[in-house]
Amino acid sequence: MSRKPLLAGNWKMFKTSAQAREFFADLIKLTQFKADREVAFGVPFPTLEASVQAAHGTPVIIAAQDVYWENEGAFTGEVSAPMIAATGAGAVIIGHSERRQMFGDTGEWVNKKVKATLAAKLMPIVCVGESLAEREANKTFDVLDTQLTEGLAGFTPADMTTVVIAYEPVWAIGTGKTATPEMAEEVHAHIRKWLAGRFDQAVADNTRILYGGSVKPDNVAKLMSQADIDGALVGGASLEAASFAKIIDFDA
Ligand code: PGA
Repeated sequence: MSRKPLLAGNWKMFKTSAQAREFFADLIKLTQFKADREVAFGVPFPTLEASVQAAHGTPVIIAAQDVYWENEGAFTGEVSAPMIAATGAGAVIIGHSERRQMFGDTGEWVNKKVKATLAAKLMPIVCVGESLAEREANKTFDVLDTQLTEGLAGFTPADMTTVVIAYEPVWAIGTGKTATPEMAEEVHAHIRKWLAGRFDQAVADNTRILYGGSVKPDNVAKLMSQADIDGALVGGASLEAASFAKIIDFDA
């Protein structure tokens, strides 16, 4: 079993290329990029190339925050996986709750996007998570099972080699409310059990499951100490190099 921790930033709709260059110049001064963990950043499409160039020489993986599933065609406004790969990026965040809630991404779309991402040899970071109403109605596991079943439909254990899951309770995103490490661990353990049932034990043991939702320098270590939490997807605290450096350098 080897699950290398993955700390991923998600800039959402923040930063121009100039700001991305400035950010990476700062980050490089603040961290040694410890070899026992991986670092990734989801950046806006127009800053992909600048971010790849600015992070050159570091182990940082640059990620897109969405993808369309066709390779090319008359799809105004969309960006394909081969286009993302051609920038030198290495990953794509898929099915973020903001995409599901504000832009209509469905489970079927998530599935097509993961497929296209794998075909372009990029690492998909597939987001799942329940809303507050769903948690309060005791539907958390059902909601996650449905999102996972739809998002990973048709995949074999071999397809899962590079897939990363990110558990992001919607009520904890950008709200300052973090799931307690114990609450997050309960869900992560459930997702791992689901992976064992849907695929096999090796997939369950090897798939990284990130936690996201108000991860900050002062709560990352406690979250990361949980057995089934293999990393973090960080929004707000990834915008400043100083706070993100503290997150990636957490004491294991
Ligand atoms: P947050 O965002 O860290 O600002 O809560 C997390 C995310 O949406 O990925």
